[in-house]
Amino acid sequence: MSEAIANVKAQFDAELAQTSMTDAQAVDALRVKYLGKKGLVTDLLKLMGGLSAEERPAYGKLVNELKSVVNDAIEAALATAQGAELERKLAGGWVDVSLPADGIPAGSTHPLYDVREEIIDIFAQMGFHVDLGRDVETDWYNFEALNTPPDHPSRDMQDTFYLDSKVMLRTHTSGTQIHYMETHQPPFRMIAPGHVFRVDSDATHAPMFQQCEGLVVDENITFAQLKGLLAIFAKRLFGENVKTRFRPSFFPFTEPSAEVDVSCVFCGGSGCRRCKGTGWMEIGGCGSVDPNVFANVGIDGEKYTGFAFGFGLDRIAMLRYQIPEIGLLTANDQRFLKQF
Ligand code: PHE
Repeated sequence: MSEAIANVKAQFDAELAQTSMTDAQAVDALRVKYLGKKGLVTDLLKLMGGLSAEERPAYGKLVNELKSVVNDAIEAALATAQGAELERKLAGGWVDVSLPADGIPAGSTHPLYDVREEIIDIFAQMGFHVDLGRDVETDWYNFEALNTPPDHPSRDMQDTFYLDSKVMLRTHTSGTQIHYMETHQPPFRMIAPGHVFRVDSDATHAPMFQQCEGLVVDENITFAQLKGLLAIFAKRLFGENVKTRFRPSFFPFTEPSAEVDVSCVFCGGSGCRRCKGTGWMEIGGCGSVDPNVFANVGIDGEKYTGFAFGFGLDRIAMLRYQIPEIGLLTANDQRFLKQF
C-alpha cells in the first residue's frame, strides 16, 4: 500500500516541477487533480476502508502526511504564481488606479434597533417625551417607590444582578416612572426604552433584554384611554387588522393591572403552534398608576390620575421578524444579522 502512496508522491513532484510557477490557473488545476473531491490523494484516503484494523492507522498517517506536503507545496506555488501575475499586470500598465475602490460594506441596522426606533416614532407622533433612564438602579427606584417593599413576593419573579445589597441592574424600566415623576410636574406623557436584566435564560428569556416603559399623568386620565392608546399602538406596529385584549393581572405599582395581548401575528388569531393554539400573544403589562406610587413621589393623587405600561422589545422584534430564539438577537452571528 505504501507503494501506492510513494507513486502518487513521485507523480506529484514531477508534475509540480513541470508546472509554470507564474500561472496561477495551472497551479490550481494541480490542486484539483490531487486534493479535489476525486483527486489522487483523496482517492488514497478512500482506499482505507478496504484495510484491516491493524493496517489502517499507519496507512492513514502516511496519506495524511502526503496530503499536507502536497497542500503546502501548492499553497506556496499559488502565492508565487499570484505574485507573478500581479507583477505582470502592473508592468502591462493597464491597472486603472483612478477607479473607485471597492466600497466598505455598509452593514444594516439591528432588528432590535429598528423596532425601538419604530416604537419611539409611534409615541413621539402622539406627543410622548423619550427618557432613557439608567441601567443601574437603587432598591428604592427599582422596587420600593414602585410599591414593592423588601418582603414582597413579586420580587421573586425579578431575581437580578446585585452590585451591593441596595444597588442592582434594573429588572424593568418601571423605575424611570419614579425618576420622571420626581423631576416633572403633570401633565406629561413619556416613554422610556432601555435594557433590563434578570436571572433568566431559555429560548424566549435572556438575562439581558429590552423594554419600553410608558407613563401618562394628567387630570381625568382613565383606564379606557389606556386601552385605546395601546390598541392604536398595536395597529401602527403590527398592522390595521391586529386586535388587542387586556387580561386582569397584578403589578404592585398599578391598580387595576392588566396583561396586554395582541392577536397572533402568525395565524391572525385562529390559533397555531406559535401562539400555542390560543390565537393571542402577550406583549406587555399595564395599569392605572397606584396612588401609593403618587404618594412616594409627591404627586397629588386626588387631583391627578395616570396609567403606565411596559413592553418587551425583544418579544416584539421576535414577533415582527418571526425570530424563533431570543438568543439570536445578541449572538452577533453574521448569517442572522445579514437578513435584516
Ligand atoms: N414592569 C412590568 C414588568 O416588567 C411591566 C409593567 C410596566 C406593568 C408598567 C405595568 C405598568 O413586567
